[in-house]
Amino acid sequence: MRTPFIVGNWKMNLTLSEVNDFLKQLTDKLPDIKKVECAIAASPIFLESLTNYCKNSPLKASAENCFYKDKGAYTGEVSPYALSDMGVDYVMLGHSERRKYFNESNKSINKKVKAVLNNHMIPIICCDETMTKQKHDDHMDWVVNPVSEALKGVSVSDAKKIVIGYEPSWAIGTGKSASVNETQEACCLIRKTIDELYNDDVANQVRILYGGSVNDKNAQELMQQKDVDGVLAGTASLKPKEFLKIINYIK
Ligand code: PGA
Repeated sequence: MRTPFIVGNWKMNLTLSEVNDFLKQLTDKLPDIKKVECAIAASPIFLESLTNYCKNSPLKASAENCFYKDKGAYTGEVSPYALSDMGVDYVMLGHSERRKYFNESNKSINKKVKAVLNNHMIPIICCDETMTKQKHDDHMDWVVNPVSEALKGVSVSDAKKIVIGYEPSWAIGTGKSASVNETQEACCLIRKTIDELYNDDVANQVRILYGGSVNDKNAQELMQQKDVDGVLAGTASLKPKEFLKIINYIK
């Protein structure tokens, strides 16, 4: 049984006082972690506040990216070792904005996946989709490749822990989410890919999330699909009230 997982991705938004105010508003309103797991992915400058908050809360802390080396002369980069030491649980990798603006490749994502796992954190591997269904009929092929590239050399025991985000780039921040059927089809394909790469035990344990214009109206229906284990919410995670509605979908 896979525990549903909902991740808010703040991206490069909010200030420290807004972060602290946001977290205050979540207190005592988070769902039972046995039923729904929730995380916030934040910029490294807010991770100390976030991890401190998470010590007394079921909320999990995620970074939005990191480097693949633990330490050294890499000015401006974020160490996975230091993130883990700070109490960070998850690291989001390969988000479409990282691929688009910072030339993230499947190869560098693969190195980062291994670095995150070596530092006892869990990668949330995002798969972009640059071609829309309208433009290209086999858009699904695009999804499979980044998954297998990102997992190259990852052991069976580590593969079971990972989280995959299916995030069609045309749906991110546009207000137009993928349909329920498209989402299920893509997530099912990702699970099949994991089954082929590993086995059905791994495929049944990996959590697959959908991201792209998720809001408090469409989240529940998307999460009800067989292979959709949760959602990644960007814009909708910036307002505590909306985020709370999304995470408290089980009455
Ligand atoms: P959005 O962003 O919810 O604003 O579309 C999603 C994401 O980038 O993860």
